[in-house]
Amino acid sequence: MRTAIRFSGIATLALAALAGPRLAAADQPLFDVSVLAGACANCHGTDGRSAGSIPTIAGRPEAILKQQLLAFKSDTPPAGTTVMGRLAKGYSDEQISALANHFSQISKSPAPQEVAKQ
Ligand code: HEC
Repeated sequence: MRTAIRFSGIATLALAALAGPRLAAADQPLFDVSVLAGACANCHGTDGRSAGSIPTIAGRPEAILKQQLLAFKSDTPPAGTTVMGRLAKGYSDEQISALANHFSQISKSPAPQEVAKQ
């Protein structure tokens, strides 16, 4: 009898532990924007600061980044688009908003103290 009570107590705790993170996860987006943004670094530079001919996307206004990404994703991407048309189609509108917000928050050029930290 005692064992049964103790066991049901443990089972309840185990169920609560399983249910807890799932309930919390319902409020969170199903993606991590920093992971999505990592896929952009190869061409747009670390943190979206490009050293080459591909445009820097760090520190651009959020609304412009979002508008550009949605334009790339559309069935009629801007003339001269090479890779971004295909790439942008891989992201939901929600992910595009999150990416636009993410890159808009990063300063275009790192402050001297940020460079020292890296
Ligand atoms: C394979 C290389 C490559 C990757 C990966 C890539 N881009 Fe691009 N991006 C480009 C190129 C090249 C352009 C210029 C437009 C074109 O030719 O498609 C561009 C243009 C852009 C522009 C418009 C910039 C401007 O000023 O015209 C934005 C915004 C952008 N990319 C965002 C992103 C984001 C966000 C990601 C990651 C989800 C990403 N890109 C991943 C190559 C890449």
